[in-house]
Amino acid sequence: MILIIDDEKNIRRTLTMVVEGEDFEVESAASGEEGLARLEESGADVVFLDVLLPGLSGLETLRRVKELDPQIEVVMISGHASLADAVEATRLGAFDFLEKPLDRERVLITLRNALSRRQLSARVQAASGGDDPFDMIGETPAMRSLRREIEKVAPSRGRVLITGESGTGKELVARAVHRLSPRARGPFIKVNCAAIPSDLIESELFGHERGSFSGAVGRKKGRFELADKGTLFLDEIADMSLSAQAKVLRALQTGEVYRVGSEQPLEVDVRVVAATNKDLPSEIKAGRFREDLYFRLNVVPLKTPPLRERAEDIAVLAESFIGHFCSENGMRRKGCSPEVHEALRRYAWPGNVRELKNICERLVIMGADPLTAADLPEEIVPRAALPGTPTGVAPGSVSLKDFKEIAEKGYIEATMRACAWNVTRAATQLGIERTNLHKKLKALGIERDEE
Ligand SMILES: Nc1ncnc2c1ncn2[C@@H]1O[C@H](COP(=O)(O)OP(=O)(O)OP(=O)(O)O)[C@@H](O)[C@H]1O
Ligand SMILES: [Mg+2]
Repeated sequence: MILIIDDEKNIRRTLTMVVEGEDFEVESAASGEEGLARLEESGADVVFLDVLLPGLSGLETLRRVKELDPQIEVVMISGHASLADAVEATRLGAFDFLEKPLDRERVLITLRNALSRRQLSARVQAASGGDDPFDMIGETPAMRSLRREIEKVAPSRGRVLITGESGTGKELVARAVHRLSPRARGPFIKVNCAAIPSDLIESELFGHERGSFSGAVGRKKGRFELADKGTLFLDEIADMSLSAQAKVLRALQTGEVYRVGSEQPLEVDVRVVAATNKDLPSEIKAGRFREDLYFRLNVVPLKTPPLRERAEDIAVLAESFIGHFCSENGMRRKGCSPEVHEALRRYAWPGNVRELKNICERLVIMGADPLTAADLPEEIVPRAALPGTPTGVAPGSVSLKDFKEIAEKGYIEATMRACAWNVTRAATQLGIERTNLHKKLKALGIERDEE
């Protein structure tokens, strides 16, 4: 339902007609008090709210609407919005501003954007709501079928080999397999085969007896033993040395392990889940991975899809990460303009979900509220490529002072690059003193790009 709160009868009538014409259900109220009473009764998806109201002011009404239900999107309407009001309304969580006289197209576009944001937050809430054994966000067909496969394989003892690009969520999959298995009460032990030096990996995996090699002080249990009755997650399996591979193979064949320096077999009940971002068949061809171990591990293959192949998940992931980092940093939930979502959707995400998560954390810490395209790093929004202004900053998103700074920074950066970072040459081209250019580089935080 769409609620219109305005004391002017004409505005109420026009808006009602426009919105009803699009088959939305509409109600209207002539004051903030009346509007709030309506909301308490029946809720709403989007509220159009006049800034200048008799009695309860527009801003105060906005504050109470958001208190009632933060997920209601509020579009402020004003005759002559003062900047201070606009800033305050944004701070209170208003979605957008419309100026009188109202333009039909603008109203409808704003309404659709507000509704799609509301649907998005509902999806985010559903996705992060409660005890989801997956902890995996994403509703694209690829993610749904991955979840179904996990559900199928988890209850068995079958070994699982997870492959996929870096940052696609292989570890999340491994944990989900464990959590949905009958071993869920047992331990989940992770071994990062790439992080452990090759001369230590065997003792790490199988344990050692006192004095079995120099540096082996005391007895130590290996990860296989620690994972008894649970799941052993062998991460980055392609990086394991060939001699460790041979021992892992033997352990998988016999269900027994030997501590380094011991002849005494130990029986272990372990389910192995392995993961890699490398292509194991080509590692086998190159002689770096044992084919027989590959067949042992690859009983049930699971593949995590790269983020660029499921672009529809990007917005939900981003909203959820932004919400997460805002609360982690004790901040009010930052808004996110449609242009930001559009830019995130278009980007190719070579680092996949991990890269998206990192960028969202940076946006929350460094970005404005609401976030705009100007907050996004250059690799996601090439400044020159955006329409609108010469710098690609969307109109209305920053102050003139900030715009000048952005433009200046972009131009100096481009000139520096064109001059191969030769300050003297760039200064001549820019028509300023060398020392002045040095100062500007520092003040604007311009640094030579890594090559
Ligand atoms: N579908 C998802 N929903 C929510 N968070 C996700 C999802 N996929 C990945 N992540 C998050 O992205 C980050 C990277 O995921 P993970 O460590 O599982 O990737 P990986 O495939 O193991 O990468 P690598 O090969 O580099 O080890 C983690 O912080 C994880 O929580
Ligand atoms: Mg990983």
